[in-house]
Amino acid sequence: MKLEVKGFEIHCGFLDVGAQREILDAVRGVVKQAPLSRYSIARGKKMSVRMTAAGQHGWVADPAGYRYAPTHPDGQAWPAIPAPILAVWDALTGLERQPDSCLINFYDADARMGMHRDDTEADAQWPVVSISLGDEGLFRMGNLTRGGKTQSHWLRSGDVVVMGGAARLAYHGVDRIRAGSSTLLPKGGRLNLTLRVAG
Ligand code: SIN
Ligand code: FE2
Repeated sequence: MKLEVKGFEIHCGFLDVGAQREILDAVRGVVKQAPLSRYSIARGKKMSVRMTAAGQHGWVADPAGYRYAPTHPDGQAWPAIPAPILAVWDALTGLERQPDSCLINFYDADARMGMHRDDTEADAQWPVVSISLGDEGLFRMGNLTRGGKTQSHWLRSGDVVVMGGAARLAYHGVDRIRAGSSTLLPKGGRLNLTLRVAG
């Protein structure tokens, strides 16, 4: 079922359990090579979400600011974006242009992500495709400027959101995680993968 909320396209149940497991295995491979980090952002405050990436560009943050970087903080290139993840982009966007970045966010039961816009990519004409795996996350969708009326939706394992068009530069965030709502990740938690054309 496809929902449209404030221009965000939510493809509910897009990935069946087999496809979710295949992507999860691929993510495990990436995390083995490029371990998750908890970055510090403003005034040394640590983000609650643990992050890594695949592709030519990954997102990193340190007290100097945040940016896309060609290497993991350990100095190694990010692993390639696994094929089962690229296949989701192909199926939903039909674009010839391939993403060059897949950001991987891990939320434990207490993690959240504040309202923000994805505005550091070089060209916002390309959509962002966002895959949810594991525990449910309450996704809040806002507007092109901070504030105003928002709408929220619980994203479940296998849901995929396409942020394009009017929603591409809209504020969004994750308010909370429903611990224990999925058995996909044996130790619980939520994974979110975002495919982007960053460079
Ligand atoms: C993000 O905006 O980077 C993450 C969105 C999500 O976790 O669903
Ligand atoms: Fe985002």
